[in-house]
Amino acid sequence: METARRRRAGAAGPAFASAILVIFAFSCSSRGPAFTWTILVIFAFLVRNQQWCQRLDRPTVASNALFNYKDKDPTGPDKWAKLNKGWAACGDGKKQCPIDICKVEINKDMGPLDQAYKSSACTLENRGHDFILQWKGGNGKLTIEKKDYVLQQVHWHVPSEHTVNGTRFDMELHMVHEDSSKARAVISVLYSTKEAGDPDKT
Ligand SMILES: *[C@@H]1O[C@H](CO)[C@@H](O)[C@H](O)[C@H]1NC(C)=O
Repeated sequence: METARRRRAGAAGPAFASAILVIFAFSCSSRGPAFTWTILVIFAFLVRNQQWCQRLDRPTVASNALFNYKDKDPTGPDKWAKLNKGWAACGDGKKQCPIDICKVEINKDMGPLDQAYKSSACTLENRGHDFILQWKGGNGKLTIEKKDYVLQQVHWHVPSEHTVNGTRFDMELHMVHEDSSKARAVISVLYSTKEAGDPDKT
């Protein structure tokens, strides 16, 4: 909202004011060249200022709000590759999210998830497409095949990022862990707000 407001003001405000000033500068040219030059310098500043406004508006973190998980939406998964140059892999990548989970194979060698977390200070941020809780320096660990992965952050997608046999869930939690070489282990939990026996259950 803030970004959109600033972009409108950045594009229309200085351009409109500049046009008025140029007309004013030339209509007052009888006041002498110094006056006209002063007005033109103000005009140049406004043009520069307008560029500055646009630079400020280039999507950074706010770009997260520019995509969503709604199927067949103008900013939905099948359009992601075209929304941003850096997102081309969303169109031709082989292992891209979101994944529709159809076949489940349990890796018996993996054993149970060995989790050991603790309470510690964290920051909560609304990134537009999700909410994220982050721990500076991590929090506790997950051990898989004797290798430790430290919990870095957890975030929730609404609705779920991944689907099961085409069904999208109400919410999805991702618990993102990293080992010392930055290799990741992510635990995903799918939420359904419909209770068993709910007549709305699909
Ligand atoms: C998806 O549907 C197929 C066919 O009905 C079924 O065999 C499979 O177990 C389902 N997958 C999941 C993850 O529920």
